[in-house]
Amino acid sequence: MKMKNKRIVLITGGTSGIGRALAEAMLEPNNVVIVTGQNEQRLQNMRSCGCVALRANMTSRTQLESLILHIQQHYGRIDLLVNNAGVQYNYNLLEDAMSINTVLHEMHVNATGPIELTMLALPLLYASEQPVIANVTSALSRTPKSTAVVYSASKAAMYSFTTSLKKMLKGRVRVCEIIPPVVETKMTEGRTGRKLSPKEMAKQILLGLEARRSVICSLQIRLFRILSAVAPVLASSIINSRD
Ligand SMILES: NC(=O)c1ccc[n+]([C@@H]2O[C@H](COP(=O)([O-])OP(=O)(O)OC[C@H]3O[C@@H](n4cnc5c(N)ncnc54)[C@H](OP(=O)(O)O)[C@@H]3O)[C@@H](O)[C@H]2O)c1
Repeated sequence: MKMKNKRIVLITGGTSGIGRALAEAMLEPNNVVIVTGQNEQRLQNMRSCGCVALRANMTSRTQLESLILHIQQHYGRIDLLVNNAGVQYNYNLLEDAMSINTVLHEMHVNATGPIELTMLALPLLYASEQPVIANVTSALSRTPKSTAVVYSASKAAMYSFTTSLKKMLKGRVRVCEIIPPVVETKMTEGRTGRKLSPKEMAKQILLGLEARRSVICSLQIRLFRILSAVAPVLASSIINSRD
């Protein structure tokens, strides 16, 4: 996908962290960059820098339908859909009472919502000459972390969905997976250790999209994926030793 031509881009959760950095990196005079989120101040910030910022809760079918209708009426197509919005909650089942509402919300924002949005967006993607869907997953989709028990399950679901979608839409829509390393965002606040900047992450995503990679990830994540496949127990102990 050549990012230099005019593109209609939709980035969910494009008001903060990785999504915001990607939106800013894609803001060329030619592109229409549509970002979604819930927080009105953050949406306003994105409008100030030239994005089309629309409120859409990933857990609301009605709001996702309105979002797609708005894009259809104003732009007629989507060239790139980035399913990026996400939340992560930590639970310790030995100590915390796990609220079922929190569990359902996490699964909805991270997995059910993006699947729903993808289905709704397909007609607009078909209207594009070179449509692309990019789903943001996580290394935890292959190697779950015990304190992020539902998050890991939601990302495994997205990994599985993405893998099937690649086959199902072959020849019609290019589908890729983005696996970020630990990135310095609201989601990782308070965590210690090395973190990539959102700007650097956005740069890697753009390069990966231009190179038409099926999986976009850093060398560190590539090596970790190999380790997960050949030595899953070691990979699991590395993931679970982190804060
Ligand atoms: N940061 C990392 O180290 C890391 C590593 C691997 C994967 N990831 C994945 O990368 C993606 C982006 O994460 P990030 O670190 O950039 O997080 P972030 O800074 O917390 O941004 C999350 C974005 O998602 C939006 N969002 C959250 N709940 C939503 C909802 N119910 N409806 C609509 N939008 C919602 C937020 O908007 P509002 O604030 O307005 O709700 C915000 O724009 C996520 O899918 C995450 O799982 C991150």
